[in-house]
Amino acid sequence: MTASDTIRIFDTTLRDGEQSPGCSMTPQQKVVMARALDALGVDIIETGFPASSESDREAARLIAREVRRPTLAVLSRCLPADIEASARVLDGTANPRLHVFISTSPLHREHKLRMSRQQVLDMTAASVAHARRLIGDVEFSAEDATRTEDDFLGEVIGVAIANGATTINVPDTLGYATPEETRALFARLIGTIPGAREVIFSAHCHNDLGLAVANSLAAIEGGARQVECTVNGIGERAGNCAVEELAMALKVRNAFYNLDTRIDTRRLVPTSQLLRRLTGMAIQRNKAIVGENAFAHESGIHQHGMLRHRGTYEIMNPADVGWPDSKLVLGRHSGRAAVGHRIRALGHTLDEPQLEQVFAAFKALCERQRVVDDNDLEALLHGDVHGR
Ligand code: KIV
Ligand code: ZN
Repeated sequence: MTASDTIRIFDTTLRDGEQSPGCSMTPQQKVVMARALDALGVDIIETGFPASSESDREAARLIAREVRRPTLAVLSRCLPADIEASARVLDGTANPRLHVFISTSPLHREHKLRMSRQQVLDMTAASVAHARRLIGDVEFSAEDATRTEDDFLGEVIGVAIANGATTINVPDTLGYATPEETRALFARLIGTIPGAREVIFSAHCHNDLGLAVANSLAAIEGGARQVECTVNGIGERAGNCAVEELAMALKVRNAFYNLDTRIDTRRLVPTSQLLRRLTGMAIQRNKAIVGENAFAHESGIHQHGMLRHRGTYEIMNPADVGWPDSKLVLGRHSGRAAVGHRIRALGHTLDEPQLEQVFAAFKALCERQRVVDDNDLEALLHGDVHGR
């Protein structure tokens, strides 16, 4: 795998993810999660925003001591005190990165920063240069980039590159962009800004319109080679690009993208479940890849297809993402084939009339309860076939 055919995964579960409602973690919990992210194979872990709290500073320091393989990044505003606080917590880190950001959109400039374009350019230049004097690996983010005027966004990014940024992040902070716009934006920025081909462009997509993963893939098509993600897609409001979805999209559709990640996909489900346990934040049942229903089949037609060939209704193998197997859930929509299969798996051999009898009892039970499990089936078998 060469650098150009690899997508770097920048995981921000511990910063952008953790700062969303219901997801906060203690420094010790962050260390546990950072170890799991290391094992998952992410390239960069953003461990926090040191200027924001003592807890973020402690977490960043603890992780720096324990996690040595991935690059460890911390976030700073374009302020000298933030940048210095960040550099201090990275002291002793094997592969440190300073990540500085400033808002660039007209709305943010006017109402949040109360700054002119020139002031934003000056702060970008000074902060990136400051960060670069302290650490060799500097990422610059233009917050709300996708709602920024094209010419100004190009100017800010040009200034960041000229002052030493090694990664340029183009956040869709409000999850406002569409895939087509995102692909074109990245292609335009990379194709027109001086020095852009010497740095890595990064996508950071929020999910307000449910487009975070689609936009991240479109950014890759436009030339991005780093994607910022979180486990389970946690993050501000509707969340960030979900690492499990992005990694599997690139793997399953590799013939189309021809790009890999270093993610050990078999660790996706265990990592997702670890985060759920640490934060108490439930995972949507039908969440792609890591939701309980992601490999569950209830309808008779689908179950029948699955019993003949799993490719009829699955595009990935559950074991490849860390599930033990697919689930054929028995309920009102299930047919004879799946019920018969389950009965045989439980060790019973029935003739046709017996199977008919149990199937009728099964259907009657489904009118009273949503799911029929193995205990229910055994009870039906003993009641209706073997007689009690
Ligand atoms: O969404 C965003 O713009 C961010 C930046 C601080 C990178 O999280
Ligand atoms: Zn964000």
